[in-house]
Amino acid sequence: MGRDAKGRNNRLKNGCVECPYHHLTFDAQGTCVKGAGHAPVPKAKVFTWETEVVEGLVFVYHHKDKLPSTWKVSEFFRPEGTWSRPYMSYQGVHPIHPQDAAENSVDTLHFRTLHQFDQVDQVTEAVADRQHFYQTLHIGKMGILPKFMRNVPIYSVVKEAAVGIGFPMAHNRFHPIGLQVNHLVFLTPIDETSTNFWFYFQVSFSEVKVPRFLRKQKERLDRHLNKHVKRAVDKAVYRAAYTVLSPMFVFINSQDLDIWSTKSYCEKPIVLGDDGNIHLFRKWCKQFY
Ligand SMILES: [Fe+2]
Repeated sequence: MGRDAKGRNNRLKNGCVECPYHHLTFDAQGTCVKGAGHAPVPKAKVFTWETEVVEGLVFVYHHKDKLPSTWKVSEFFRPEGTWSRPYMSYQGVHPIHPQDAAENSVDTLHFRTLHQFDQVDQVTEAVADRQHFYQTLHIGKMGILPKFMRNVPIYSVVKEAAVGIGFPMAHNRFHPIGLQVNHLVFLTPIDETSTNFWFYFQVSFSEVKVPRFLRKQKERLDRHLNKHVKRAVDKAVYRAAYTVLSPMFVFINSQDLDIWSTKSYCEKPIVLGDDGNIHLFRKWCKQFY
């Protein structure tokens, strides 16, 4: 299989993949269903990757011995209510081990020191359950934001979770406005020393506290709009949220990336303050090696 002249990958045709070189065509199970030109269909089969589409994102399952998955991403990542499509705030390759990045959420002390949040409390005990790791934090205002944003009394409850060490995510609920933000991090090691980072986030306004008279106005307006206009309005609102929130996430992520790129792994770290879950997290990580 190759790429076509425009550098694109193989072409999708009627649910099958066509190689641009000889036009051999393979179905979703990897079986060759069309030969080259007028040649007979060869008895050929290629390996297929197990995939899952969640929130418009394509997840590819990889097992070193090519075994099928025993779990699904959707068992764990299944946002309830109405959410925007995930928006990519950053992508880049860095000389960082994925575990160093995934450890971010259990290293709770750095939320105060590096990110300058004024409050970080563990709300629930961390739970390590097979390929899932959960904890809930209560995080306060961020001191290094511009003054007008710093003084907004927004406190969020963050449900940190990870599916393996390749997909840490945080479900943020900003109080008291009720805005919800899922912060998604995808870590793909591409060689011995480098990892590809994708930072995404999605927003939900379904629990935002809107004054009653405004809600009624909106319901009245919705009745007069057709679904295309409604979709365009939703898109514009989501885009506005991306514009406001993206710089904040990019800034926080850049602070972490700078540190992760230069830190060295300490096998037995001294636990500082609230960082007691690091040992539990590292014990949980061992199942992936
Ligand atoms: Fe961080």
